[in-house]
Amino acid sequence: MGLKIGIPRETSSDERRVAIVPETVRKLTAKKLEFVVQAGAGDGSFLPDADYVAAGAKIAAGADELYASVDAIAKVNEPSADEVAKLKEGTALVSLLYPLSNLPLVKLLNGRRITAISLDMIPRTTLAQSMDVLSSQANIAGYWAVVAAATRLPKYFPMLMTAAGTLMPAKVLVMGVGVAGLQAIGTARRLGAVVEATDVRPETKEQVESLGGKFLMVQGVEVKAAQGGYAQEQSEEFKKKQAELITAAIGKADVVITTALIPGRKAPILVTEEHVRSMKPGSVIVDLAARQGGNVAGCEPGKDVVKNGVLIMGPTNAPSNLAQHASLTFSRNIEKLLLHITAEGAWKLNMDEEITKGCVITREGQVANARVLEAVTKAGGAP
Ligand code: NAI
Repeated sequence: MGLKIGIPRETSSDERRVAIVPETVRKLTAKKLEFVVQAGAGDGSFLPDADYVAAGAKIAAGADELYASVDAIAKVNEPSADEVAKLKEGTALVSLLYPLSNLPLVKLLNGRRITAISLDMIPRTTLAQSMDVLSSQANIAGYWAVVAAATRLPKYFPMLMTAAGTLMPAKVLVMGVGVAGLQAIGTARRLGAVVEATDVRPETKEQVESLGGKFLMVQGVEVKAAQGGYAQEQSEEFKKKQAELITAAIGKADVVITTALIPGRKAPILVTEEHVRSMKPGSVIVDLAARQGGNVAGCEPGKDVVKNGVLIMGPTNAPSNLAQHASLTFSRNIEKLLLHITAEGAWKLNMDEEITKGCVITREGQVANARVLEAVTKAGGAP
């Protein structure tokens, strides 16, 4: 008998995704893993229990039964304290955990000797790309942001020459050109908008231009180079110059999409109240950093608000809006990870190997990840 992996129904109210879909159950059952799914776990993604059963999974009537019957739980969102309490001591958890900004959760998991595998800690390397849920979900968020903005903007996106005359294309400004930003640029271009974009990483210029966008670059100030591909917080002088650059562009924009994140920190404010006031009534802002506090002054996470006629959308879980593809890609990422860290239906955790070392954060009652251990020590807490 192989490792038994449990797939619970997500408990956050805004969550429609499920961590593992039947396609993955089928593929991994062939690799000697076993699956138990909580009844209704796939409902939000239109994946009926019967599809899981057909793929080889067993059904557990409720969460208690599920957690009690498996060796590992695979889920999307970090578990609540209640869910941690349900995990059997010494079992495993595969999930987004954001341990660097949630040390109390690390402590809870470690207290139960859980092997905690944090999907957001998988290194951003070529080898790990197929396991990278941050990328697959950011891609969806970037697409959704544009489509959502297009349905709320009182204008067309493309330039149209109609019998009623010529209509000018919408102008879209994208801030933060990571995975979500690039998909937003591509989607907005496909809809025919004129796109401008900005980022602190100068190397994104070429990517923006290859998608047919115009890159806005802060000139004449030192840029703090990205670390491990991720942006750093910039100097006050940089922020001032950036605000000026945005001031010049934002008054002309019909749609602004912000995606700027700094790992482990609150998102930087890029769009000030003054910027919002300078925008045309009817314009739309989608703040994809809302969950991390937002890039836009006045953004209310989880809400749509109107300020001076400008709609500011603050989605906290954009990927969930495309639950079917979000679940499918999330599941394919986990599938590749499980294939990497199991063999013959058992764990194969090589803590000297880069991906495993990156994402296994607690194991056998110890904090197993160097960055998390450093954060725990800095915070002065015992692991
Ligand atoms: P993210 O979600 O952490 O941030 C989004 C974007 O916001 C980034 O491009 C960042 O530079 C930008 N940003 C941060 N602060 C800003 C500010 N003050 N003003 C303007 N822009 C700001 O980024 P994501 O999408 O997670 O990508 C992070 C890095 O990882 C990128 O270098 C990306 O190319 C790399 N990556 C590598 C992968 C791989 O090799 N497997 C997979 C996915 C991403």
